[in-house]
Amino acid sequence: MDIRIVENSAQLDCDVLIVNKFQDELTSNDLINRYAPDSFTGKVGEVFTIHTRKELPSKYVMAVGFGIENNIDRDVICKAITAAVKKCLDMKFKTIAFDIRTNVTFGIPTILTSSIVNYSFDKYKTKKNHKISTVYISNVSSDINVVASAVEGLELARDLANEPAEYATPERLAKIAQSFEGIETDIYNEKEIAQMGMNAYLAVAKGSDNPPRFIHMKYVPENPEKKIALIGKGLCFDSGGLDLKPASSMLTMRNDMAGAACVLGLMSVIDKIRPNVEVHALIAACENMPSGKSYKPGDIVTARNGKTIEVDNTDAEGRLTLADVLCYACDLEVDEVIDIATLTGACVVALGDTVSGIMGNNSSFVDAIIKTATYSGEKFWELPMFQDYRDNMNSDVADMKNTGSRFGGASAAGMFLKEFVTDSVKWAHIDIAGTAFLDKPRNGYCKGATGVGYLTLLNYLLLHK
Ligand code: BES
Ligand code: MG
Ligand code: ZN
Repeated sequence: MDIRIVENSAQLDCDVLIVNKFQDELTSNDLINRYAPDSFTGKVGEVFTIHTRKELPSKYVMAVGFGIENNIDRDVICKAITAAVKKCLDMKFKTIAFDIRTNVTFGIPTILTSSIVNYSFDKYKTKKNHKISTVYISNVSSDINVVASAVEGLELARDLANEPAEYATPERLAKIAQSFEGIETDIYNEKEIAQMGMNAYLAVAKGSDNPPRFIHMKYVPENPEKKIALIGKGLCFDSGGLDLKPASSMLTMRNDMAGAACVLGLMSVIDKIRPNVEVHALIAACENMPSGKSYKPGDIVTARNGKTIEVDNTDAEGRLTLADVLCYACDLEVDEVIDIATLTGACVVALGDTVSGIMGNNSSFVDAIIKTATYSGEKFWELPMFQDYRDNMNSDVADMKNTGSRFGGASAAGMFLKEFVTDSVKWAHIDIAGTAFLDKPRNGYCKGATGVGYLTLLNYLLLHK
């Protein structure tokens, strides 16, 4: 989807001109004011469309309800734009122009919502879904160009997570990472991963015929304010390993690299958004498969920081891969680490499919990310980090087991990860197991990958612009 900032969108030759309608007020468009029925009052998300019969350069004009003018906020704008864009897709419009007049800033939410709603994954369909090709927008400041260039990254994040595992292999992710501009990317193979002491990660990868790839992308501006590591869980497929998942749970496990996809999407546009922070994006890409070479329940593995882990369940593999990457990130002497992972079914049970879990070792850091999420239209909720969860993971034969009690599983996973984070580094862990992949359309997102976390991390980086 192309986004163009223009002087006067009302005078464009395009499929539809979209204006906003507040309740009890006239719109900026004379045709709408003359022909809209009284039943169209301008409630949030209400849509009215008419043909312009050549009275305007655009073919159609659409009014979308923005509710009561004094109540307008970001959520209202997103809801209204979702309804308008859905209508545009229904009517097979290709070029659309927004002429929105409000006292609050609407540019960024309008662009992002348009991109979210317009998205669908049809690469493998011979008959493609209808999509909007160009969005024109006026009455906005030019700094939204930065965000306009970032919508591509969100599309990439969703595409990669939607791709079959057969396509999105560790090697493929590595190749994609190497294709990005403005960054330096190092790729490490099995032998090198072993040399780096990342044996928990290697244990998970062992069972697959597709070899692992450790991906390290670096973005280094001239005078960075700080150093941040972004870690995405990169399980290109999670069968559960020898502790095999049932078929119904395995079906969507191509999406177990949604965290990695999110980080890859961000790094694909980092050269355009140019935040003033050093960013190290890290992905331990691999597959968790059952085979004669698989790691086994009862195995004891040693992570990069020397801690030993008894493998209680081969399906709790994400934390094993992340353990080594967290150590690696801390060794880079970064100020902050954020990991994003489809980590636990327990998080889905606790928070559902619209709220992501967040935990960390520094409450003001976690709070700052939650605040950024809210601003980005994403919902994050902090889960507890009590020692009790860690005590459940005590092992008789190693420093810890990779699972705890059946209950409180999201927090247990968080406490497990904490073992691999240096105390002086600010760290937050985002569990997107419930939010990364939808089994039915919701809030303007189609079924499948949502790219959750992308907008929050993007805005977090943009705080340092
Ligand atoms: N990738 C899964 C978590 C998951 C579950 C993601 C549902 C998306 C939707 C993870 O590797 C896993 O299998 N976790 C186990 C851990 C358990 C064995 C302690 C789980 O949550 O069941
Ligand atoms: Mg698993
Ligand atoms: Zn997994």
